[in-house]
Amino acid sequence: MFRYLLLLFTGLVLCMNQAMADSLKISVIGAGKVGGTLGTLWAKAGHSVMFSSRHPETLTGLVESAGPGARAGSVNEAAQWGDVIVLSVPYGAMPVLSEQLKGSLDGKVVFSTSNPFSDRDADVGRKALEVGVALADRQYLPGARLVRAFNAIGYAAMKNQSGTGKAIPTFADDARAREMGARLVRDAGFIPVLLPLARADEGLPGGPLSGVMSEAELKQRLGE
Ligand SMILES: NC(=O)c1ccc[n+]([C@@H]2O[C@H](COP(=O)([O-])OP(=O)(O)OC[C@H]3O[C@@H](n4cnc5c(N)ncnc54)[C@H](OP(=O)(O)O)[C@@H]3O)[C@@H](O)[C@H]2O)c1
Repeated sequence: MFRYLLLLFTGLVLCMNQAMADSLKISVIGAGKVGGTLGTLWAKAGHSVMFSSRHPETLTGLVESAGPGARAGSVNEAAQWGDVIVLSVPYGAMPVLSEQLKGSLDGKVVFSTSNPFSDRDADVGRKALEVGVALADRQYLPGARLVRAFNAIGYAAMKNQSGTGKAIPTFADDARAREMGARLVRDAGFIPVLLPLARADEGLPGGPLSGVMSEAELKQRLGE
């Protein structure tokens, strides 16, 4: 009996260690509608999540509702802490963040849901749309391993459609960014369909890959 209990206990400890080893530290910079929704899905999937914004003191309600894996921190703390950094801010914030985070994102995977709009983001948005969003990201975050996803699905659908077999175009070139990006999309309850960063503009709102769709529909739109 004692041996049986010991084996059971050891098995439980091994399972818990495995689960902890598999969980990621995810920093979410920009904890609004999208960052708050995705961060909550990831916390509920077992990851540790740090929500941040210029006003982290306002994020206590979000942290509580996301559960025990969540916390809040400053933007600089979040940039240091995470294994992966999720950027979910209005694109107009990119020049400020680029300056503020200079050097601290080098080599890290940065997963961006942030979209440029010419009206909301003024000159910054217009220029990004002109050169292409992937190139604009690269200019603002030169050392980061970039992945873009969840750019053209509304935040309510991120929550309501999680776990229903919907596909998300996931744009990345770097091998780690592709792997991590696909994992984050999966752990939020969606199916990643990996595409090169050069196609990221197609995944912007109103683009040919925008909206909520099944993997088959997305592949049909891609001509596969
Ligand atoms: N809404 C959607 O359904 C949707 C869907 C797909 C993609 N997107 C894109 O995802 C991004 C986020 O959208 P959202 O709707 O979640 O916006 P949101 O609700 O307005 O949230 C933006 C967040 O960014 C933070 N923020 C703004 N400037 C910042 C800075 N300089 N440094 C750090 N944090 C900053 C804000 O907090 P503080 O003001 O406290 O700093 C807030 O937490 C946008 O680019 C949007 O176009 C949105």
